[in-house]
Amino acid sequence: MSTYGNLFRVTTYGESHCASVGAIIDGCPPGLTLSADDIQLQLNRRRPGQSDLTTPRNEKDRVLLQSGLEHDVTLGTPIALLVKNEDQRPHDYSETDLYPRPSHADYTYLEKYGVKASSGGGRSSARETIGRVAAGAIAEKYLKQAYGIEIVAFVSSVGKVHIPFSVQRPSQDDEDDEQVEDALSEEFRHLLSTVTREQVDQHPTRCPHLETAEKMTQRIIRAKDNLDSIGGTVTCVIRNVPSGLGEPVFDKFEATLGHAMLSIPATKAFEIGSGFRGTEVPGSKHNDPFVLKPDGSGRLGTKTNWSGGVQGGITNGEDIYFRIGFKSPATISQAQATAQYDGTPGSLAARGRHDPCVVPRAVPIVEAMASIVVMDQLLIQNARKTAAALLPPITTLPKTMVMPGKAQTEQNGTA
Ligand SMILES: Cc1cc2nc3c(=O)[nH]c(=O)nc-3n(C[C@H](O)[C@H](O)[C@H](O)COP(=O)(O)O)c2cc1C
Repeated sequence: MSTYGNLFRVTTYGESHCASVGAIIDGCPPGLTLSADDIQLQLNRRRPGQSDLTTPRNEKDRVLLQSGLEHDVTLGTPIALLVKNEDQRPHDYSETDLYPRPSHADYTYLEKYGVKASSGGGRSSARETIGRVAAGAIAEKYLKQAYGIEIVAFVSSVGKVHIPFSVQRPSQDDEDDEQVEDALSEEFRHLLSTVTREQVDQHPTRCPHLETAEKMTQRIIRAKDNLDSIGGTVTCVIRNVPSGLGEPVFDKFEATLGHAMLSIPATKAFEIGSGFRGTEVPGSKHNDPFVLKPDGSGRLGTKTNWSGGVQGGITNGEDIYFRIGFKSPATISQAQATAQYDGTPGSLAARGRHDPCVVPRAVPIVEAMASIVVMDQLLIQNARKTAAALLPPITTLPKTMVMPGKAQTEQNGTA
């Protein structure tokens, strides 16, 4: 369906070639200072036509706030926002009246609904993600102000061009118990803990490792010149998230994050923490030992963070980091042997304006979905803590049931 979230609820609407796209956001706390500029910043990073590496569709994507705030302060009521579709060219798609585009959503939408938008990707188009990015910008503003939470995504690979120290060294030897550092190097972990949006935006590929970024550019241009496309990965880090977020068992933090990420068009893979690479390292090297946090809080932290900030489906206060795989876009101008809707074999060379690689534009979408997930989980956990804090303290519990060094009232109290 088109609504995501429990207490911070985001409903997006719109198709690629209709009058407008947008979102209704319900559950935003009242009293948040918010202007269209806060939202526009991220929409500008998502919009098409930013460089030669993206689709030339020329959309300004100016956000129009319709409700839910006055004098740049949120009222706690639903926020409606819209962005007009201005540069539609439905005739670019006439050949797709006959052909479902291979690996696009034309065939499955028609199979499912029995009717589909007459041009473009309709609801499956990345235009839909405008509503997500706008909603994410609102969540992010709250998270930053209330908790100092930082969310930064960046392009970590395009085709086979990876940020070099992000890749596992190949070892076919099963007897060789690799160090976990081989799976995710010191340099890459340093990048995760320090990378900023300014660094990410230094290069049109949105890869903060500039040497790799140049190679990525060449790879995307090669795909474009060949009338083809290429995929890639986006890595994202979320810093300063409080411990305790996530709703086991079905709404574990990483499950909701994976759900949100895999709902972005063109996604094919999601991994958190050491991910698939961690599976090749024994527990003795992969476990994250506990240490007293050096910040004087008296709390436990972990020495390493192969868990990616989530254990048992609950955040542990460490940085949350994850990676998403985006496929090579389906719409290519190179002729492909395929079949028409009626089964007649033929050849499709798609016209229209398309992204040769989606990852540079996917970066703000990933950040938006991450913001929405954290926001929703925070509101849920805060509601639980507030409810628990109203109860009289229990003084009869065995020691093993309570956090050492903490009075029970404090433990049940709000953060
Ligand atoms: C930012 C962004 C831009 C995209 N641009 C295109 C595009 O130009 N051409 C295309 O075929 N798909 C593009 N896609 C992907 C399609 O929307 C998606 O592949 C299609 O709806 C099929 O869905 P699926 O790949 O999730 O199965 C884009 C995706 C994103 C996130």
